[in-house]
Amino acid sequence: MQTVTKERFRYGRGIQLIDDSGVAYIDGVSGTFNLSLGYNHPHVVEKVQEQVGNLAHMSSTFTEPYVNEVLAHLTEYAPNGIDAGWMRDITGSTANECATKIAQKYTGASDIISLFLSHHGQTQFATGISGNAFRRKKFPNSSAPNSLHVPAPYCYRCPFNSSRPDCGFQCIEAISDSIEYASSGSVACMIIEPILGNGGNIIPPEGYFQLLRKLCDEHHIILIADEVQTGIGRTGYMYASELFDIKPDIITLAKGLGGIGVPVAAVIMQSRLDVLEKHEHSFTSGSNLISVTAAKATMEVVSEPGFLDKVKWKGEILGNLLEGLAEKYSFIGEARGVGLMWGLEIVDRDDAPDVAKANAIIEQAFSDQHLILRGSRYGFGNVVKVRPSLTATEDEIVEIVGRLEAVLRNVG
Ligand SMILES: Cc1ncc(COP(=O)(O)O)c(C=O)c1O
Repeated sequence: MQTVTKERFRYGRGIQLIDDSGVAYIDGVSGTFNLSLGYNHPHVVEKVQEQVGNLAHMSSTFTEPYVNEVLAHLTEYAPNGIDAGWMRDITGSTANECATKIAQKYTGASDIISLFLSHHGQTQFATGISGNAFRRKKFPNSSAPNSLHVPAPYCYRCPFNSSRPDCGFQCIEAISDSIEYASSGSVACMIIEPILGNGGNIIPPEGYFQLLRKLCDEHHIILIADEVQTGIGRTGYMYASELFDIKPDIITLAKGLGGIGVPVAAVIMQSRLDVLEKHEHSFTSGSNLISVTAAKATMEVVSEPGFLDKVKWKGEILGNLLEGLAEKYSFIGEARGVGLMWGLEIVDRDDAPDVAKANAIIEQAFSDQHLILRGSRYGFGNVVKVRPSLTATEDEIVEIVGRLEAVLRNVG
Protein backbone atom coordinates (compact mmCIF):
# COMPACT_ATOMS: atom_id res chain seq x y z
CA MET A 1 0.00 0.00 0.00
CA GLN A 2 1.35 3.37 -1.01
CA THR A 3 -0.01 6.59 0.43
CA VAL A 4 -0.25 8.99 -2.52
CA THR A 5 0.21 12.57 -1.44
CA LYS A 6 -0.48 15.80 -3.26
CA GLU A 7 1.00 17.71 -0.37
CA ARG A 8 4.48 19.00 -0.65
CA PHE A 9 6.12 19.13 2.72
CA ARG A 10 8.33 22.16 3.29
CA TYR A 11 9.60 21.83 6.82
CA GLY A 12 10.16 19.23 9.47
CA ARG A 13 9.77 20.43 13.04
CA GLY A 14 10.22 17.94 15.88
CA ILE A 15 7.96 15.03 14.90
CA GLN A 16 5.86 17.12 12.50
CA LEU A 17 5.92 17.71 8.76
CA ILE A 18 4.48 21.01 7.58
CA ASP A 19 3.02 21.29 4.08
CA ASP A 20 2.87 24.15 1.56
CA SER A 21 -0.21 25.67 3.14
CA GLY A 22 1.17 25.50 6.67
CA VAL A 23 -0.80 22.41 7.72
CA ALA A 24 1.13 20.23 10.18
CA TYR A 25 1.08 16.41 10.01
CA ILE A 26 2.21 14.32 12.97
CA ASP A 27 4.67 11.64 11.95
CA GLY A 28 3.78 8.59 14.03
CA VAL A 29 6.46 6.44 12.44
CA SER A 30 9.54 8.71 12.37
CA GLY A 31 10.00 8.73 8.59
CA THR A 32 10.77 5.14 7.74
CA PHE A 33 11.64 4.51 11.41
CA ASN A 34 14.95 6.29 10.85
CA LEU A 35 14.33 9.73 12.40
CA SER A 36 15.29 8.61 15.88
CA LEU A 37 15.60 12.25 16.99
CA GLY A 38 12.88 13.76 14.82
CA TYR A 39 13.22 16.04 11.80
CA ASN A 40 15.44 18.81 13.14
CA HIS A 41 17.09 17.94 16.40
CA PRO A 42 19.17 21.07 17.19
CA HIS A 43 22.32 19.24 18.33
CA VAL A 44 22.55 17.07 15.21
CA VAL A 45 21.61 19.95 12.89
CA GLU A 46 24.27 22.18 14.45
CA LYS A 47 27.04 19.57 14.29
CA VAL A 48 26.23 18.55 10.71
CA GLN A 49 26.01 22.17 9.53
CA GLU A 50 29.33 22.95 11.19
CA GLN A 51 30.94 19.90 9.57
CA VAL A 52 29.61 20.74 6.11
CA GLY A 53 31.09 24.24 6.47
CA ASN A 54 34.48 22.91 7.54
CA LEU A 55 34.95 19.77 5.49
CA ALA A 56 32.14 17.79 3.89
CA HIS A 57 34.16 14.97 2.42
CA MET A 58 37.58 13.43 2.26
CA SER A 59 38.65 9.94 1.32
CA SER A 60 38.00 7.22 3.86
CA THR A 61 41.78 6.87 4.09
CA PHE A 62 41.69 10.07 6.16
CA THR A 63 38.37 9.79 8.01
CA GLU A 64 39.52 6.97 10.28
CA PRO A 65 40.06 9.12 13.40
CA TYR A 66 36.48 10.42 13.11
CA VAL A 67 35.11 6.92 12.48
CA ASN A 68 37.03 5.48 15.42
CA GLU A 69 35.39 7.99 17.76
CA VAL A 70 31.94 6.81 16.69
CA LEU A 71 32.90 3.14 16.86
CA ALA A 72 34.26 3.63 20.38
CA HIS A 73 30.94 5.13 21.38
CA LEU A 74 28.91 2.37 19.71
CA THR A 75 30.95 -0.47 21.20
CA GLU A 76 30.89 1.08 24.70
CA TYR A 77 27.23 0.00 24.90
CA ALA A 78 27.50 -3.23 22.92
CA PRO A 79 26.84 -6.66 24.49
CA ASN A 80 28.78 -9.92 24.31
CA GLY A 81 32.31 -8.54 24.01
CA ILE A 82 31.61 -6.65 20.79
CA ASP A 83 34.54 -4.27 20.66
CA ALA A 84 35.40 -3.58 17.01
CA GLY A 85 33.62 -2.09 14.04
CA TRP A 86 33.43 -1.22 10.37
CA MET A 87 31.87 1.96 9.06
CA ARG A 88 32.18 2.03 5.30
CA ASP A 89 28.46 1.76 4.49
CA ILE A 90 25.65 4.24 4.39
CA THR A 91 22.77 1.77 4.04
CA GLY A 92 21.50 -1.08 6.15
CA SER A 93 21.42 -3.35 3.09
CA THR A 94 25.15 -3.20 2.48
CA ALA A 95 25.91 -3.25 6.21
CA ASN A 96 24.15 -6.64 6.27
CA GLU A 97 26.18 -7.73 3.23
CA CYS A 98 29.29 -6.68 5.14
CA ALA A 99 28.27 -8.75 8.16
CA THR A 100 27.65 -11.87 6.07
CA LYS A 101 30.97 -11.41 4.24
CA ILE A 102 32.72 -11.22 7.61
CA ALA A 103 31.01 -14.42 8.75
CA GLN A 104 31.87 -16.25 5.53
CA LYS A 105 35.48 -15.12 5.51
CA TYR A 106 35.99 -15.90 9.21
CA THR A 107 34.36 -19.32 9.21
CA GLY A 108 35.26 -20.40 5.68
CA ALA A 109 31.66 -21.65 5.48
CA SER A 110 29.08 -20.56 2.93
CA ASP A 111 25.44 -20.71 4.01
CA ILE A 112 23.37 -17.88 5.45
CA ILE A 113 20.18 -18.60 7.42
CA SER A 114 17.43 -16.04 7.89
CA LEU A 115 13.79 -15.98 8.99
CA PHE A 116 10.62 -15.99 6.88
CA LEU A 117 9.15 -12.44 6.88
CA SER A 118 12.54 -10.88 7.59
CA HIS A 119 13.72 -7.78 5.78
CA HIS A 120 17.44 -7.25 5.47
CA GLY A 121 17.49 -4.76 2.59
CA GLN A 122 16.88 -4.05 -1.06
CA THR A 123 20.13 -4.80 -2.88
CA GLN A 124 19.80 -8.03 -4.84
CA PHE A 125 21.86 -9.88 -2.23
CA ALA A 126 20.01 -8.38 0.74
CA THR A 127 16.73 -9.23 -0.99
CA GLY A 128 18.03 -12.75 -1.46
CA ILE A 129 18.73 -13.23 2.23
CA SER A 130 15.40 -11.65 3.23
CA GLY A 131 12.48 -13.92 3.98
CA ASN A 132 9.97 -12.98 1.29
CA ALA A 133 9.61 -14.72 -2.06
CA PHE A 134 7.48 -11.95 -3.58
CA ARG A 135 10.37 -9.49 -3.43
CA ARG A 136 12.60 -11.85 -5.42
CA LYS A 137 10.04 -12.37 -8.16
CA LYS A 138 11.19 -10.95 -11.53
CA PHE A 139 14.78 -10.48 -10.28
CA PRO A 140 16.68 -13.69 -10.96
CA ASN A 141 19.87 -12.42 -9.33
CA SER A 142 18.18 -11.73 -6.04
CA SER A 143 18.04 -15.37 -5.04
CA ALA A 144 21.23 -15.29 -3.01
CA PRO A 145 23.11 -18.55 -3.40
CA ASN A 146 23.60 -20.51 -0.18
CA SER A 147 20.68 -18.71 1.44
CA LEU A 148 18.24 -20.69 3.62
CA HIS A 149 15.01 -19.38 5.07
CA VAL A 150 13.37 -20.82 8.17
CA PRO A 151 9.97 -20.21 9.83
CA ALA A 152 9.70 -17.08 11.95
CA PRO A 153 8.74 -17.21 15.64
CA TYR A 154 5.43 -15.48 14.92
CA CYS A 155 3.44 -16.71 17.92
CA TYR A 156 0.23 -14.87 16.98
CA ARG A 157 0.17 -16.88 13.74
CA CYS A 158 2.37 -19.80 14.71
CA PRO A 159 3.53 -21.55 11.52
CA PHE A 160 3.17 -24.85 13.41
CA ASN A 161 -0.29 -24.07 14.82
CA SER A 162 1.07 -24.39 18.31
CA SER A 163 1.14 -22.01 21.22
CA ARG A 164 3.46 -21.16 24.06
CA PRO A 165 4.36 -22.54 26.54
CA ASP A 166 3.69 -26.08 25.27
CA CYS A 167 4.95 -25.74 21.70
CA GLY A 168 8.39 -27.19 22.39
CA PHE A 169 9.89 -24.39 20.29
CA GLN A 170 9.20 -26.15 16.99
CA CYS A 171 10.54 -23.00 15.26
CA ILE A 172 13.97 -23.73 16.74
CA GLU A 173 13.65 -27.41 15.84
CA ALA A 174 12.95 -26.32 12.25
CA ILE A 175 16.23 -24.37 12.16
CA SER A 176 18.08 -27.38 13.49
CA ASP A 177 16.48 -29.54 10.77
CA SER A 178 17.40 -27.01 8.08
CA ILE A 179 21.01 -27.05 9.18
CA GLU A 180 20.96 -30.82 9.14
CA TYR A 181 19.04 -31.48 5.92
CA ALA A 182 18.62 -28.31 3.83
CA SER A 183 22.00 -26.61 4.15
CA SER A 184 25.13 -27.43 2.19
CA GLY A 185 26.58 -28.72 5.43
CA SER A 186 28.60 -25.55 5.76
CA VAL A 187 26.69 -22.74 7.52
CA ALA A 188 28.49 -19.43 8.11
CA CYS A 189 25.85 -17.37 9.87
CA MET A 190 22.30 -16.78 10.94
CA ILE A 191 20.95 -13.24 10.61
CA ILE A 192 17.95 -12.17 12.67
CA GLU A 193 16.05 -8.99 13.47
CA PRO A 194 15.48 -8.89 17.26
CA ILE A 195 11.97 -7.67 16.39
CA LEU A 196 10.85 -8.52 12.85
CA GLY A 197 10.15 -4.93 11.92
CA ASN A 198 8.77 -4.77 8.41
CA GLY A 199 7.44 -8.32 8.78
CA GLY A 200 4.86 -7.10 11.32
CA ASN A 201 6.53 -6.03 14.57
CA ILE A 202 6.95 -9.67 15.56
CA ILE A 203 8.60 -10.26 18.93
CA PRO A 204 9.99 -13.76 19.47
CA PRO A 205 8.83 -15.51 22.67
CA GLU A 206 10.90 -15.56 25.82
CA GLY A 207 13.65 -18.17 25.62
CA TYR A 208 13.84 -18.16 21.80
CA PHE A 209 17.09 -16.25 21.48
CA GLN A 210 18.81 -18.31 24.16
CA LEU A 211 17.97 -21.53 22.29
CA LEU A 212 19.06 -19.93 19.04
CA ARG A 213 22.40 -18.89 20.55
CA LYS A 214 22.90 -22.46 21.83
CA LEU A 215 22.14 -23.89 18.39
CA CYS A 216 24.57 -21.47 16.72
CA ASP A 217 27.29 -22.37 19.25
CA GLU A 218 26.77 -26.10 18.64
CA HIS A 219 27.26 -25.58 14.89
CA HIS A 220 29.91 -22.81 15.05
CA ILE A 221 27.51 -20.42 13.34
CA ILE A 222 28.05 -16.66 13.64
CA LEU A 223 24.93 -14.92 14.98
CA ILE A 224 24.23 -11.54 13.37
CA ALA A 225 21.66 -9.20 14.91
CA ASP A 226 20.26 -6.87 12.26
CA GLU A 227 19.48 -3.91 14.51
CA VAL A 228 18.88 -1.53 11.61
CA GLN A 229 15.42 -0.82 13.09
CA THR A 230 15.83 -1.81 16.73
CA GLY A 231 19.24 -0.24 17.40
CA ILE A 232 20.13 3.15 18.90
CA GLY A 233 17.50 3.31 21.60
CA ARG A 234 14.34 2.30 19.74
CA THR A 235 13.36 -0.27 22.39
CA GLY A 236 14.50 1.84 25.34
CA TYR A 237 17.86 0.04 25.27
CA MET A 238 20.79 1.12 23.11
CA TYR A 239 20.55 -2.30 21.45
CA ALA A 240 17.61 -4.69 21.53
CA SER A 241 20.24 -7.44 21.80
CA GLU A 242 20.73 -6.29 25.39
CA LEU A 243 17.00 -6.24 26.13
CA PHE A 244 16.45 -9.78 24.80
CA ASP A 245 19.86 -11.09 25.92
CA ILE A 246 20.62 -12.25 22.37
CA LYS A 247 24.43 -12.39 22.65
CA PRO A 248 25.12 -11.75 18.94
CA ASP A 249 28.61 -11.90 17.47
CA ILE A 250 27.90 -9.04 15.06
CA ILE A 251 25.36 -6.18 15.14
CA THR A 252 24.41 -4.12 12.09
CA LEU A 253 23.08 -0.58 12.41
CA ALA A 254 21.69 2.11 10.10
CA LYS A 255 18.38 4.08 10.16
CA GLY A 256 18.27 5.65 13.65
CA LEU A 257 22.04 6.09 13.76
CA GLY A 258 21.72 9.18 11.54
CA GLY A 259 19.39 10.89 14.06
CA ILE A 260 17.60 13.25 11.67
CA GLY A 261 17.71 10.99 8.62
CA VAL A 262 21.32 11.41 7.57
CA PRO A 263 22.25 8.15 5.83
CA VAL A 264 24.82 6.18 7.78
CA ALA A 265 25.42 2.57 8.76
CA ALA A 266 27.80 0.61 10.96
CA VAL A 267 28.78 -2.99 11.60
CA ILE A 268 30.09 -3.78 15.06
CA MET A 269 31.59 -7.13 15.99
CA GLN A 270 33.90 -9.02 18.32
CA SER A 271 37.48 -8.18 17.33
CA ARG A 272 38.21 -11.79 16.32
CA LEU A 273 35.76 -11.05 13.46
CA ASP A 274 37.58 -7.92 12.29
CA VAL A 275 38.87 -9.82 9.28
CA LEU A 276 38.02 -7.72 6.22
CA GLU A 277 40.61 -5.87 4.19
CA LYS A 278 39.52 -2.36 3.21
CA HIS A 279 39.23 -3.29 -0.46
CA GLU A 280 36.84 -6.12 0.44
CA HIS A 281 33.99 -3.85 1.55
CA SER A 282 34.15 -0.12 0.98
CA PHE A 283 32.01 2.49 -0.77
CA THR A 284 32.83 6.01 -2.01
CA SER A 285 30.39 7.59 0.41
CA GLY A 286 31.01 5.12 3.22
CA SER A 287 32.47 6.87 6.27
CA ASN A 288 31.87 10.31 4.72
CA LEU A 289 32.16 13.09 7.26
CA ILE A 290 28.54 14.25 7.13
CA SER A 291 27.30 10.77 8.03
CA VAL A 292 29.95 10.14 10.63
CA THR A 293 29.28 13.51 12.27
CA ALA A 294 25.53 12.83 12.36
CA ALA A 295 26.18 9.43 13.98
CA LYS A 296 28.47 10.97 16.58
CA ALA A 297 25.99 13.74 17.44
CA THR A 298 23.12 11.21 17.60
CA MET A 299 25.07 8.99 19.96
CA GLU A 300 25.82 12.01 22.14
CA VAL A 301 22.10 12.68 22.51
CA VAL A 302 20.94 9.07 22.96
CA SER A 303 23.61 8.33 25.57
CA GLU A 304 22.81 11.41 27.66
CA PRO A 305 21.98 10.27 31.22
CA GLY A 306 18.25 9.55 31.51
CA PHE A 307 17.51 9.62 27.76
CA LEU A 308 16.90 5.88 27.41
CA ASP A 309 14.97 5.77 30.69
CA LYS A 310 12.62 8.34 29.20
CA VAL A 311 12.21 6.21 26.07
CA LYS A 312 11.28 3.24 28.30
CA TRP A 313 8.79 5.39 30.20
CA LYS A 314 7.23 6.86 27.03
CA GLY A 315 7.16 3.34 25.57
CA GLU A 316 5.06 2.19 28.51
CA ILE A 317 2.63 5.06 27.97
CA LEU A 318 2.34 4.24 24.25
CA GLY A 319 2.03 0.51 24.92
CA ASN A 320 -0.69 0.96 27.55
CA LEU A 321 -2.69 3.22 25.26
CA LEU A 322 -2.41 0.84 22.29
CA GLU A 323 -3.25 -2.20 24.42
CA GLY A 324 -6.32 -0.24 25.55
CA LEU A 325 -7.34 0.15 21.90
CA ALA A 326 -6.83 -3.59 21.31
CA GLU A 327 -9.24 -4.34 24.18
CA LYS A 328 -11.82 -1.94 22.79
CA TYR A 329 -11.76 -2.79 19.07
CA SER A 330 -12.26 -6.44 18.16
CA PHE A 331 -10.51 -5.98 14.79
CA ILE A 332 -7.24 -5.40 16.62
CA GLY A 333 -6.08 -8.95 17.27
CA GLU A 334 -3.05 -7.88 19.23
CA ALA A 335 -1.09 -4.76 20.12
CA ARG A 336 2.54 -5.80 20.50
CA GLY A 337 5.75 -3.94 20.99
CA VAL A 338 8.36 -2.62 23.32
CA GLY A 339 9.82 0.84 23.83
CA LEU A 340 8.69 3.05 20.96
CA MET A 341 8.30 0.18 18.47
CA TRP A 342 4.68 -0.98 18.31
CA GLY A 343 2.33 -2.66 15.85
CA LEU A 344 -1.39 -3.38 15.74
CA GLU A 345 -2.38 -6.72 14.17
CA ILE A 346 -5.57 -5.95 12.21
CA VAL A 347 -7.82 -8.99 11.78
CA ASP A 348 -11.19 -9.91 10.29
CA ARG A 349 -13.96 -11.85 12.07
CA ASP A 350 -12.09 -15.12 11.54
CA ASP A 351 -8.87 -13.67 12.92
CA ALA A 352 -7.34 -13.72 9.41
CA PRO A 353 -5.11 -10.79 8.37
CA ASP A 354 -7.33 -7.87 7.25
CA VAL A 355 -5.05 -6.04 4.86
CA ALA A 356 -7.82 -3.86 3.41
CA LYS A 357 -8.76 -2.55 6.83
CA ALA A 358 -5.12 -1.96 7.81
CA ASN A 359 -4.63 0.06 4.62
CA ALA A 360 -7.85 1.99 5.22
CA ILE A 361 -6.64 2.91 8.71
CA ILE A 362 -3.34 4.18 7.35
CA GLU A 363 -5.00 6.14 4.53
CA GLN A 364 -7.66 7.71 6.71
CA ALA A 365 -5.13 8.57 9.39
CA PHE A 366 -3.25 10.56 6.76
CA SER A 367 -6.18 12.22 5.00
CA ASP A 368 -8.56 12.84 7.91
CA GLN A 369 -6.30 13.12 10.92
CA HIS A 370 -3.01 14.31 9.39
CA LEU A 371 -1.31 11.43 11.12
CA ILE A 372 1.40 9.48 9.28
CA LEU A 373 1.45 5.70 9.92
CA ARG A 374 2.90 2.76 7.98
CA GLY A 375 1.94 -0.87 7.29
CA SER A 376 3.79 -4.18 7.22
CA ARG A 377 4.25 -4.68 3.49
CA TYR A 378 6.89 -7.38 3.92
CA GLY A 379 4.72 -9.42 6.23
CA PHE A 380 1.04 -10.20 5.61
CA GLY A 381 0.45 -6.44 5.26
CA ASN A 382 -2.07 -6.22 8.10
CA VAL A 383 0.02 -4.69 10.86
CA VAL A 384 -0.29 -0.95 11.43
CA LYS A 385 2.93 0.36 12.89
CA VAL A 386 3.28 3.12 15.45
CA ARG A 387 6.85 4.20 16.07
CA PRO A 388 7.32 7.86 16.83
CA SER A 389 10.75 9.42 17.21
CA LEU A 390 12.47 8.82 20.52
CA THR A 391 12.15 12.53 21.19
CA ALA A 392 8.32 12.54 20.98
CA THR A 393 6.82 14.08 24.11
CA GLU A 394 4.20 12.41 26.29
CA ASP A 395 1.60 14.85 24.91
CA GLU A 396 2.54 13.96 21.34
CA ILE A 397 2.22 10.25 22.09
CA VAL A 398 -1.24 10.81 23.57
CA GLU A 399 -2.15 12.93 20.51
CA ILE A 400 -0.99 10.19 18.09
CA VAL A 401 -3.13 7.57 19.83
CA GLY A 402 -6.07 9.99 20.05
CA ARG A 403 -5.99 10.62 16.29
CA LEU A 404 -5.56 6.91 15.64
CA GLU A 405 -8.61 6.13 17.76
CA ALA A 406 -10.69 8.65 15.81
CA VAL A 407 -9.85 6.65 12.68
CA LEU A 408 -10.58 3.29 14.36
CA ARG A 409 -14.03 4.53 15.39
CA ASN A 410 -14.68 5.42 11.77
CA VAL A 411 -13.44 2.24 10.09
CA GLY A 412 -14.91 -0.04 12.79
C1 LIG B 1 15.73 -4.59 9.63
C2 LIG B 1 16.23 -3.92 8.39
N1 LIG B 1 17.43 -4.27 7.89
C3 LIG B 1 17.93 -3.68 6.80
C4 LIG B 1 17.23 -2.70 6.13
C5 LIG B 1 17.80 -2.06 4.93
O1 LIG B 1 18.27 -0.78 5.24
P1 LIG B 1 18.48 0.30 4.08
O2 LIG B 1 17.12 0.66 3.56
O3 LIG B 1 19.17 1.44 4.77
O4 LIG B 1 19.34 -0.34 3.05
C6 LIG B 1 15.97 -2.31 6.60
C7 LIG B 1 15.17 -1.27 5.90
O5 LIG B 1 14.00 -1.13 6.06
C8 LIG B 1 15.46 -2.93 7.76
O6 LIG B 1 14.27 -2.59 8.27
